[in-house]
Amino acid sequence: MLAASVRRLQRPAAAHPWCRLSTKTHYDETMVYEFASQKIKPVSLGQLLKYQRLPLSAENILDSVSYSQAELPVRLAKRVISFHRLPFIVGTNPHIAQVYNHYYEAFDRLHAFAPIADLDAEWEFTRTLERQTQLLADVIPKIAQGFLECKQYMPREERTAFISDLIRSRIGLRVIGEQHVALSFQFRSEQNAGSKQQARAGAPQTAEDVWVGAIHTKLRPARMMEQCARMVQNMCEMYYTTAPEYYVDGNVDETISYIPSHFEYITCELLKNAFRATVDFSAKTGRSSHPPIQVTITKGDGYVGVRIRDQGGGIPKSNMRDVFEYSWSSMQAGDTAESAMTGSSPSLSAPAGMSLQTNLAMQQGVGGPIAGLGFGLPMARLYAEYFGGSLDIVSMEDYGCDVFLKLRSIEGSAEEKQI
Ligand SMILES: Nc1ncnc2c1ncn2[C@@H]1O[C@H](COP(=O)(O)OP(=O)(O)OP(=O)(O)O)[C@@H](O)[C@H]1O
Ligand SMILES: [Mg+2]
Repeated sequence: MLAASVRRLQRPAAAHPWCRLSTKTHYDETMVYEFASQKIKPVSLGQLLKYQRLPLSAENILDSVSYSQAELPVRLAKRVISFHRLPFIVGTNPHIAQVYNHYYEAFDRLHAFAPIADLDAEWEFTRTLERQTQLLADVIPKIAQGFLECKQYMPREERTAFISDLIRSRIGLRVIGEQHVALSFQFRSEQNAGSKQQARAGAPQTAEDVWVGAIHTKLRPARMMEQCARMVQNMCEMYYTTAPEYYVDGNVDETISYIPSHFEYITCELLKNAFRATVDFSAKTGRSSHPPIQVTITKGDGYVGVRIRDQGGGIPKSNMRDVFEYSWSSMQAGDTAESAMTGSSPSLSAPAGMSLQTNLAMQQGVGGPIAGLGFGLPMARLYAEYFGGSLDIVSMEDYGCDVFLKLRSIEGSAEEKQI
């Protein structure tokens, strides 16, 4: 098996773009293929969360790190290989090449550790893992930009499969990595606090108790939606110099157990779409003021529902299938705030949807420019479905959209959810 992998590596490697982008040796590449040939060992979320709220012991931490150490290099190596299979011209795109380098570096750093037998080595591994997991957190805007630039070089199905696999595996990598990092930090803070943990037993829940690793067990969707809507409203004002109002109603006190960064990502993407559509439609129809965006929270059995209702003119029936495709956007190259507001035809000089402001917003972690990458809806749906939720759109043409988001509480589905 290994020999076959090495043979596969040797032939294309000489001509492959990655060779020019880095200084990887034959030995390094052989290791990647060796790791990539191993099987992934899925873990249930329940297993990852099994130490929740226990005072942690050194054995717990070593047990947790042994899974991360064995599993993450295998998953990273598989991703590295998937980049090797991209068409040459796609692989040479600078955004995609940068993401490849992040994956390669993460693999390289993590696989190099000797088996971990003590807490000092565990701590060193954890710090490396923390840094690499953070680097992987920033790859989505780069992937989105990269595929926007070279979508014509890959058939749609292959592109969709590559991106979806990359994103799903990235969620798994981050959940496993962040969970161990959080446990390791928790263990050390418990050690530092000495017997404080025991003294706290039976005491009322404190702020730290709502976190189980990267999962927040009492996340309030209404509060989160308020924060995201405010952020997107600012972004919209910055881009279009105008923005609609919003309000949040329904079961505003409801809570859910979820990963906040996932919740934030999904809802910001949906809100950006609603804000943009509203401003665009006002400009198109000559409305003197924008109708507000309504966010309604509902409570279900083990899940929370969020409906985002806008009056942004809806989605034409002919586009309904395309809107969930990666790199599909109705925003044209050169669309600017001015052209949206005045209806004037856009110049074709600027890259799609990118401006200084949106670039800045992107760097500040808002999740991307207001529109134009064509990643918002497919990514939001993939994130929602990852933990058993769903995302659906009902569009009324020339009126607006209702977007229905259903998110399953992670604690309720922890035993069956395989990562
Ligand atoms: N609420 C909405 N009202 C009207 N059209 C919408 C709405 N939501 C999405 N769309 C349409 O679906 C398309 C795809 O949305 P998606 O969020 O995936 O990409 P985008 O907004 O163009 O770019 P980005 O990835 O930067 O968000 C949009 O370009 C827009 O035409
Ligand atoms: Mg969008």
